[in-house]
Formats: sequence, C-alpha cells, structure tokens
Amino acid sequence: MKTFEQITDLERRYLLGTYNRYPVAFARGKGVFLYDLDDRRYLDFVSGLGVNALGHAHPRIVKTIREQAAKLIHISNLYYNEYQGELAEKLCGLAGAASGGVLANSRAFFQNSGTEAIEGSIKLARLAGHRAGGDAKSRLVALQGSYHGRTFGALSLTGQDKHRKGFGPLLEEVTFVPQNDIEGLRAAVNDNTCAIVLEPIFGEGGIYECSVEFLRECRALADQFKAALIFDEIQCGLGRTGTMFAFQSFGVVPDIIAIAKPIAAGLPLGAFIAKEEFANAISPGQHGTTFGGGPLACRVALEFLAIVEEEKLLENVNRVGAYLQQELKAIAEKSPLAKEVRGRGFIQGINLEIPARPIVDAALGEGVLFNSTHDTVVRFLPPFLLEEKHVDKGMRLLKKLLRNARKKAA
Ligand SMILES: Cc1ncc(COP(=O)(O)O)c(C=O)c1O
Repeated sequence: MKTFEQITDLERRYLLGTYNRYPVAFARGKGVFLYDLDDRRYLDFVSGLGVNALGHAHPRIVKTIREQAAKLIHISNLYYNEYQGELAEKLCGLAGAASGGVLANSRAFFQNSGTEAIEGSIKLARLAGHRAGGDAKSRLVALQGSYHGRTFGALSLTGQDKHRKGFGPLLEEVTFVPQNDIEGLRAAVNDNTCAIVLEPIFGEGGIYECSVEFLRECRALADQFKAALIFDEIQCGLGRTGTMFAFQSFGVVPDIIAIAKPIAAGLPLGAFIAKEEFANAISPGQHGTTFGGGPLACRVALEFLAIVEEEKLLENVNRVGAYLQQELKAIAEKSPLAKEVRGRGFIQGINLEIPARPIVDAALGEGVLFNSTHDTVVRFLPPFLLEEKHVDKGMRLLKKLLRNARKKAA
C-alpha cells in the first residue's frame, strides 16, 4: 500500500489543482465508519457528500455489485438491459405514490451525476416551453444562493458568485429571485418562463429551507404560465428529509424531479423523473448518454431502494434526525459561538459565529468527519444507518470543539 505522502505527492504533481482536500486518505469503510491508511477509525457524518446513505460496504450492495459485475457492466444505450426499465418503473411508481397520483404517469431518464440530471431537466423544460409558447418561452427562474452543479447549464442556474466567477458568459436567460421572496418571484415569472428551478432545501448554500408558502406560489405560477416546476432533490431527496422525496415534506408536487447522490450507493447515477405532459416533449435523438442507465448502476439502485424499504431506514432518518436536531439545538442554546440550527432529518446544519472549517479540521483530528459549507455552517449529511449513540459521540465532540474555540478567542 502507498504511504500518505506518496499519495499526496502524486496528486500534487499530476492532478488539476481543483480540490482543497482534508489531510487524510481512506482505505476502507464499514457501516457508519471509515478507516484511514493506518486503520484509524472515523465516524462519518458526511457520507461522501450525501452519497453513502447505506454507509460503507453494505453486504447486500457488495453482493449485488459482485454478481452483476461478473455478468454485465456496460452495453451503452444502443441496446436494452434488464434493469433500466425496471428502475424507471420503480422510481415513477414511488413518485406517483408520493404525489397522490399526480406523477402517476411520469417517465425517467438516467445519466451519471447530479449536474447531468439538472442539464437534462432544463433541456426537457426548454423543449416543452418552445412547444407551448414558441422560441421566446425559454427563460429560467432560479434562486439566489442555490447550487445546481458545475456544467454550463447547471452553473447558469447556480445563484452563487463564488462558483460562477470567471466562467462567463453563462446562459443569459436566467432570472434569480431571493429564496422565499414571493413578490420577487411573481415579478420574475411570465409568459416567457419555461421553468422554475429550485432546491427545496439549499444544500451547498448552507441548509436553508424554502417556505411552504413560497413553494405553493411557485406551483401556482408554473401552472398559470405553463412552465415546468423543477425540484433539484439531488442532495435533499431519496430519503434524506425522512420522506422518499423531499417534495412530500413540503406538500408541493413538482413537474420534474432531479435526483442523484445516494441512488446507486456510490456508483455514478443521476436521474430525472418528469410528468407525462413534459416528458412527451422529447423525441428520439434529442438527448442521450453513453454511460447513463447501465445494468450495473441500475441493478444496484434497485437494491438500494429495496434496502431503504425493507430495513425501514426512513423511520430511522426521522427518529435519529429528530434526536440530532434536539441535540444541535441544545448546543445552539448554550454556546455563544452557535447561532442557528436548520434543516431536518439527515440534512441539517448549525450556523456558527466563527468559520466552520477549523472546527471540521479539529473534528477530523479526533476521528469524526463533519463537513463545512457556506463558510460558517457545519453540515450533517450522515448515512441513514446512524444511531443515537453516534449522534451522542459527534455532539460531545462538537461541544468540546466549540468550548476550545471560545477559550482560544478569549
Ligand atoms: C442540490 C445539488 N444539485 C446538483 C449537484 C451536482 O451534483 P453532482 O456533483 O453529482 O454533479 C449537487 C452536488 O452537490 C447538489 O447538492
């Protein structure tokens, strides 16, 4: 096995300098724990940025990957495979049930990442928009502070200068509205709008929730102007809020849902699910991908969904998520360095009065993985397997680190 120094040296010399990594390399994982090169154990509140909802090395996922890899990994979309249609049926069925039948006749498309799920969603919304209102019906409405990914389309919808800076010109047809500003929204949406795109809970943007009133207004305006309401559930969807889709937690049904992160338990897979009247705007040849929807990723995704149901993991997300929130709120009440707790289920954040990164760095040194976002927010996206005892361990450490930071500042 390589040493840590050998690994970092190779990366320093040969990789594009895009990542500001934490000083650790992991060799293996089991459940809610990761192990570094020296076999030191870390409790994981990050789950690979929301991907490892089943933790690490889940036996059923390992078995499925082994079996399918030995049979067939990839064939391209020139041919049929056994699992793509079955996964689409499963996801559309779940969306139909979650929406009280509104999405009963939806259709799915598979790609390889969240960003691609957003790209596909907005391409479909443009096609549907042009069909309904001609070429002028192409404008997109998105939210300030949002994050939708790094390709040009997804970046054009991302309402944060730090990600956009230096890459212009981006898509020009985007109007940004502050989150939960209903008047601003009304002013932005018109006959030329083809889609309103939003995360029900901002993930990278610092765990800020859209209000139910705001989402209802998005729904009403999308209906009034025949635009698609697109929910980016890439981070907050597929169980993280305690419901299968985040939209269920808010009681507002979108027309298109973009999902990715946990769906194939760590294999790259993204998807969007579109209501029939939008889905039927696309024709053969108008969109496609070499890798997306391959037999390995789709079969693993079916297994992921089966495990979430059979192991009743959403009940765990709800119960342990409520406990996490209670403990975070207790910290926020006591510590002068903690301001506010936001989010729900297993997508939560605590906003600090100080930069979050040094807290995350110190936690790493103590064997706990937290993540920071939006400068002052410590974000928690744990695996769905997390238990109360793990929350206790993480919160004990967070309290200690905040106490130390206070002493240092005094
Ligand atoms: C809400 C949201 N949308 C889109 C993306 C982009 O997904 P990916 O990194 O898989 O391309 C992310 C990634 O963090 C995300 O959180």
